[in-house]
Amino acid sequence: MKSNIKILAIESSCDETAAAIVVNGREVLSNVISSQIDIHTKFGGVVPEVASRKHIEVISTVVEKAIKESKLQYKDIDAVAVTYGPGLVGALLVGVQYAKGLSYALKKPLIAVNHIEGHISANFIQYKNLKPPFICLVVSGGHTYIVYMKDYGEFEILGQTRDDAAGEAYDKVARAIGLGYPGGPKIDKIAKEGNPNAIKFPRANFHDETSLDFSFSGLKSSVLNYLNTMKMKNVSINNADVAASFQKAVVDFLVDNSIKACKVKKCNIIAVAGGVAANTCLRSTMIEKSKERNIEVLFPDFSLCTDNAAMIGSAAYFEYIKENFASMNLNAIPNLKLGER
Ligand code: KG4
Ligand code: ZN
Repeated sequence: MKSNIKILAIESSCDETAAAIVVNGREVLSNVISSQIDIHTKFGGVVPEVASRKHIEVISTVVEKAIKESKLQYKDIDAVAVTYGPGLVGALLVGVQYAKGLSYALKKPLIAVNHIEGHISANFIQYKNLKPPFICLVVSGGHTYIVYMKDYGEFEILGQTRDDAAGEAYDKVARAIGLGYPGGPKIDKIAKEGNPNAIKFPRANFHDETSLDFSFSGLKSSVLNYLNTMKMKNVSINNADVAASFQKAVVDFLVDNSIKACKVKKCNIIAVAGGVAANTCLRSTMIEKSKERNIEVLFPDFSLCTDNAAMIGSAAYFEYIKENFASMNLNAIPNLKLGER
């Protein structure tokens, strides 16, 4: 088999149009991202139709730029990879159709990548020697999973959210305290000025104590109840305390379950992935609590945590070596689950 496999990867599942060139799943030659955040901020969240239109407007420029910055030419590419789910259907279709067109024109194989597997793979870019098995906590705007990564492309789901994703909870609470979209980074910032022990927000309790699942919608409701009660009583609200206390509840839940998962699988590596992996409190708490138990904690750089195409190029490489190629019938699957094909 050929060495130095160069994959052109495309990502358009939500509000970032991205393209990257990645060699052997680990070395990034270019990683171009065009974000739509400013447009969606005006609406307080991502507007699917607007997202699709913006992807169409910029996708060819983004791909051209990725090729140019890599100093390669289209003919040097070994395969074209694309996110085909989960995500917004219209947004995904833009990337899928563009990638199919490129793959056909260049006569290079097409690789379909699950967006969540992409987030996990960001760790292979950051940590060049990282190999499975390890535990991965995937925390993004749409997903919260604890996964045992047995081998490349092989996942055992140990826990997942039963309702809202961690990032979704951040976004909803941020909106309730008037911080706007996207809420995660804003809560992260103001929580630094607040007291995490000021308000005791409850953690969801499952009857099964061994469960590694999460639930964040009850937590979100108790924040909303707290805000309403304070308003009704005419008591002034300290937003920094609310943010810090909410964040502590989320982070403790995420960290405790990740450490429990290590125990279950007798594993001493936790890799964290997804947009919420950029959270500074999650980073410090995970490192602190894992140290006591001799668990190594891995976080990709901030730029590799949120949506990007380099992570898609990395995940695609492990499919390339298995010759797991997609056909021209590839379609977008908006509710694709982790490990599903
Ligand atoms: O992975 P991602 O870019 O997109 C999805 O695949 O969903 O994650 C976006 C999510 C948003 O909910 C955003 O609020 C959250 O990640 N996020 C953060 C931080 N940065 C982004 N949450 C907490 N703290 C942050 N610093
Ligand atoms: Zn994502």
